[in-house]
Amino acid sequence: MTATRTPRVAVLLSGAGMTLAALLQAADSGQLQANIVLVCSDQPDANGLHIANQAGIAAVLVARSEFASKSKFEDALLAAVATAQPDWIVLAGFMRVLSARVCKAWAGRAINLHPSLLPKYPGLDTHARAIAAGDTEAGASVHYVSAELDGGPVIAQVRVAIVPGESADTLAARVKQAEQTLLIDCLQALCAGSRN
Ligand code: GAR
Repeated sequence: MTATRTPRVAVLLSGAGMTLAALLQAADSGQLQANIVLVCSDQPDANGLHIANQAGIAAVLVARSEFASKSKFEDALLAAVATAQPDWIVLAGFMRVLSARVCKAWAGRAINLHPSLLPKYPGLDTHARAIAAGDTEAGASVHYVSAELDGGPVIAQVRVAIVPGESADTLAARVKQAEQTLLIDCLQALCAGSRN
């Protein structure tokens, strides 16, 4: 019988951390068979750090403002993540574009969640842009991380119908729920594939 090891996951974030909370809940319930071993934020006031602390998970702040250059910031980020020896690195609302150097270091094991049907609407205000364009559906994507904003090969997507006349806020709430399920299912599949 081959011994298996539970995959280790590092989560990078910049804000509220609702995606992190969903991942933690999924790991607790066994829906996600992975250990979230590190949470790393580039923002000192990110609520995600608080969520990590409450869950007893190593929480590290690597604040961009503390470094003279993007390169030095990324050195610190690479070092912080390397300490945790993650099998997977999940960008869960991490609002920075990483350089090709970092993407290469994390190639094949860094994924990002984005609230649009990529390649449509990289960046911000995705729901308002989808509504303004007259789209009939919105959604979310999980993709491998590249050095382009919300670029990189798409792994999986979820589609959410846009209700005629609805606001970006109501659409965002539905996409938020759907994208968390998408990420959990996707990460679980990747982790299951990466077991050794
Ligand atoms: C999520 O909706 C995620 O899709 C989005 O940031 C939010 C983070 O929410 N990611 C991007 O926009 C990436 N370009 P959270 O802080 O509550 O987890």
